[in-house]
Amino acid sequence: MESESNQTSRRQSNIVLTGFMGTGKSVAGHILARETGREFIDTDELIAQRAGKSIANIFFEDGEQTFRLYERQISRELSTKDGLVISTGGRLMLDPLNALLLNQNAAVFCLTATAEEILARTENDLSSRPLLDGDNPAARIEKLLREREEGYSQYKQINTGGRSIQDVVKDILTLTDTGKLDPTENRALRSSIPIHYPGGSYTTVVGRDLLKDLSRFIDLERPTAVITDSNVGKHYVNTLRYLGPAATIIVPAGEKYKRLETVRKIYDELLKGGIDRQGAIITLGGGVIGDMGGFAASTYMRGIRLVQCPTSLLAMVDASIGGKTGVDLPAGKNLVGAFKQPDCVIADLLTLRTLPLPELRSGMAEVIKAALIASPEMFDSLEKLAFSWSKQINDGHQLPLDNLQSLIVESILIKREFVERDPFEKNERMLLNLGHTFAHAIEKGSGYTIRHGEAVAVGLVAAAFLSASLGYFPDPLVIRIEQLLNKMGLPIRIPESVTVQQLMADMLYDKKMESGKRRFILMRDIGDVFVGRDVPETAVEQVIEYLRRS
Ligand SMILES: NC(=O)c1ccc[n+]([C@@H]2O[C@H](COP(=O)([O-])OP(=O)(O)OC[C@H]3O[C@@H](n4cnc5c(N)ncnc54)[C@H](O)[C@@H]3O)[C@@H](O)[C@H]2O)c1
Ligand SMILES: [Zn+2]
Repeated sequence: MESESNQTSRRQSNIVLTGFMGTGKSVAGHILARETGREFIDTDELIAQRAGKSIANIFFEDGEQTFRLYERQISRELSTKDGLVISTGGRLMLDPLNALLLNQNAAVFCLTATAEEILARTENDLSSRPLLDGDNPAARIEKLLREREEGYSQYKQINTGGRSIQDVVKDILTLTDTGKLDPTENRALRSSIPIHYPGGSYTTVVGRDLLKDLSRFIDLERPTAVITDSNVGKHYVNTLRYLGPAATIIVPAGEKYKRLETVRKIYDELLKGGIDRQGAIITLGGGVIGDMGGFAASTYMRGIRLVQCPTSLLAMVDASIGGKTGVDLPAGKNLVGAFKQPDCVIADLLTLRTLPLPELRSGMAEVIKAALIASPEMFDSLEKLAFSWSKQINDGHQLPLDNLQSLIVESILIKREFVERDPFEKNERMLLNLGHTFAHAIEKGSGYTIRHGEAVAVGLVAAAFLSASLGYFPDPLVIRIEQLLNKMGLPIRIPESVTVQQLMADMLYDKKMESGKRRFILMRDIGDVFVGRDVPETAVEQVIEYLRRS
């Protein structure tokens, strides 16, 4: 006997259809909706309705990027609804964030057909299919199918070739009705995010239980060294034993060991382990290990391969992405470093289960930073989550990995946007440093007793106050930012132990100084930031004084 609650949850969950154009998603979706009493939604139709023009015209007049933004907006909206059959545009479910959003409450099916069948079914209306535009649609279909094969393969496959649409629908109904495809089963999606840089690309994979299976993502035949810290090592170093590392280097945990002396010891261990120029370093840890191990990989024998396995939220959403590596000097943070792109980044969500709560919160500050820089929608959802999370955390519960995965993926997508456009931080990438001029000085002023993310939280508040005091940013938004950080358990004031003079002096070392003038990243709105030049010292000082006193 099935429990009532099971029946209810199944009736309410959504059914999502994905697959290439011409596989019958719309027709099958209509019938499914009718047969199961759900509402039918076709994402392409919804977008055309909203835009007031056809999909082909959106592509032609506004560009593909605009169309993808509509898809994101709709995925966000539909993810909060239930009782729907959703037929999705061919690429919608290949976007890692859309996939996570819609997957939360749905059984997803991918309809398949061969290239010949697809061509036969779409031949009559090629003009309305911008992606098949060109002389040789057959070749184009084959190419797109190959490109999308891996992405589609993560969903339950339903072959439509040579079959009636009724039979296809019957398959889906059987799978959903008998509970053979439980919506929760599909949830453990693995997100693959390609990141391009001049001369190459790598993939960041976010999912569960990935450390056990690194060789799936990268060939590690050559001698490898695992670098980790004492906290992370005790939980996970054994998980990587199957790789047979030639050296396992465990350094003491903490920012204060992110320095040249530790790197020097790492070089010695690499030599002892016989790591040569064909070798590779696997970093396993938070941002400190990633930055320092990455720097070792960029300099040892003039550079060896690097695989980053971030284990803190902060490292997953920020430090492991974009190729910046380095160490601190007594004069300031990250003053020695190099750009070193990894071969891949593997973020295993299960490692977050042992991450201490203050570290999780610290990472959350960078997630909030990402939202402030680029996504008002993400900021809204963080506000909603903060409310339920603060309750769960107070009751001693862990945060749901599904929610965390969406936030991690969205933060990475935002960071990717900036690092791909400006790989060497000449212009736009600077915007990722929102709050960081303050944060670095606060970290240093506290003798590194404050976590990076905690300092970033205070730095974000400082950047908001500064933007407001210069007349760029409305006061109510400053309050919303403070409230969100506060709800997440993050500090929003400068500790009294750090003096104004110290902070002002330390900020002189910040790399955002341009010929003696202080540059600050300022905000106009949530999701709208810019580089403020010639920011008056007095305004900065006033903000610091206020945030120390209040
Ligand atoms: N390269 C970049 O682009 C970039 C960007 C942002 C931050 N950073 C750097 O990252 C560093 C901060 O990163 P962080 O906050 O991850 O610091 P961290 O590496 O010190 O990790 C924080 C603490 O959590 C522990 N830890 C990490 N993962 C764990 C796990 N899964 N289980 C149990 N314990 C775990 C660590 O041992 C450490 O004690 C700073 O040095 C900062 O400058 C670099
Ligand atoms: Zn940071």
